[in-house]
Amino acid sequence: EKGGYNHFMLKEIHEQAKSIRECMRGRVYPEQGKIALGGIASFDGLLKNAERIVIVACGTSWHAGLIGEYLIEKYARIPVEVEYASEFRYRDPVIRSNDLVIAISQSGETADTLSAIDLAKKMGAVVLGICNVVGSSVSRATDGGIYTHVGPEVGVASTKAFSGQVTVLTMLALYLAQLKETLSKEERSNCIHSLWKLPEFVEEALKCEDQVQRIAYGMLRSRNCIYLGRGCAFPVALEGALKLKEISYIHAEGYPAAEMKHGPIALIDEEMTVIFIATNHSYHEKIINNIQEVRARKGKVIAIVSNAGGEVAALSDEVVQIPHSDEFLLPILAAIPLQLLAYHVALIRGCNVDQPRNLAKSVTVE
Ligand code: M6R
Repeated sequence: EKGGYNHFMLKEIHEQAKSIRECMRGRVYPEQGKIALGGIASFDGLLKNAERIVIVACGTSWHAGLIGEYLIEKYARIPVEVEYASEFRYRDPVIRSNDLVIAISQSGETADTLSAIDLAKKMGAVVLGICNVVGSSVSRATDGGIYTHVGPEVGVASTKAFSGQVTVLTMLALYLAQLKETLSKEERSNCIHSLWKLPEFVEEALKCEDQVQRIAYGMLRSRNCIYLGRGCAFPVALEGALKLKEISYIHAEGYPAAEMKHGPIALIDEEMTVIFIATNHSYHEKIINNIQEVRARKGKVIAIVSNAGGEVAALSDEVVQIPHSDEFLLPILAAIPLQLLAYHVALIRGCNVDQPRNLAKSVTVE
C-alpha cells in the first residue's frame, strides 16, 4: 500500500505531479483559457461581488490559505484575511453581508475549523470549503466547495494535500479573475497555460532528492533552523519549518526574510542553519542582502534557487535547484525540497516519519 516506498510521507511527496493533475482535471481548460469550478458555480453572483474573503484553517491548511491570500489579492483584487480557525471561533469576528468565508481542511474533521464554519454560518455568511475527504464533516457543513481530489493522505505530515490546496486556491484566484475581469484575456490565458504545465515542473523539482538527502546528513545535529522567504514564498517558509519540527523534532521557525532584522537576527551564529527560498523572482536582490547578513554572522545558509549558477549559489553553503517557473507556481515548487528535507532529516535521526510523537492525522479535539 506504500507503493514500494518506505513511508507514506515519501510516497505522498512523490505522488504530487499526479495528484495535482487529478486536482486540475475537468477544471483547467488551457485551450479556452478558462477555469471551471462546478462546486461553486452557483455562487458566481456572490463571488463576483464579494467585498472580502475570510479564510479559516489550521496548520498546513492555514499556510495554504496565506498563499491563497497573495494569489486572490493579486489576480482578483478582492481583500483576503486568513485566520487560524481556533482564533476566529473564540473571537467576536466581524462578518458583513458581502463577505465570503472559505474553510480549508484536508481531513474535513478538524474541530476548530468546524466550529469556525458554524460560527460564520450563524452570522449569516456563505461558507465554502476546500477539502480533500469527500463526504467529510467540513464538506457537509459548508454551502459549496472545491475538493482537492489528491487521494487519501496517510502521513501525519501533510504534503500532497498542501499542494492540492494551493492548486485549488490558484484555480480559484484565476476563476475569480475570470468572473471579475481583473486580468486581460491574454494574461489569464498565459497563467492558465502555465498552471496546466505545473505537474511537469513538479516532476522536475522532485529530482532534487539526492541533493537534499546529502544536505540532510549535514543537519543531523542541528538544533535550530530558520526558514526565510518573501512574498508568496513567506508562507512556504512557514510550511517548511512546520514540516521539519513536526517530524524531526528540530526547532524551526519561518519568517518573512525582511523581519529578520526586527529580532531573529540575534539568534544567528555558527550553530544556526538558515534556509532561504531564493529563486529568481521578485525581491531577488533583497534576498541576496538577507543572505549576506546571515553569512556575516557565520550562519549556515541553504538556499532553494532556480538558477544554480547565480549570485545566491556563490554565497550559500548548499543550494538546491528547482525549475524556473512563473512566480505564482513557486509556492508549490519550493515546498517540494522542504518536504524532502524534513523527511530525510527525520529519517536520519531515527524518527517515526509517518506517525510523529504527540500528533494525530486529524485533530478532532479543540
Ligand atoms: O485536516 P486539516 O487540514 O484540517 O488539518 C489541519 C492541521 O491539523 C494539519 O495541517 C497539521 O498541521 C499537519 N500535521 C501539518 O503537516
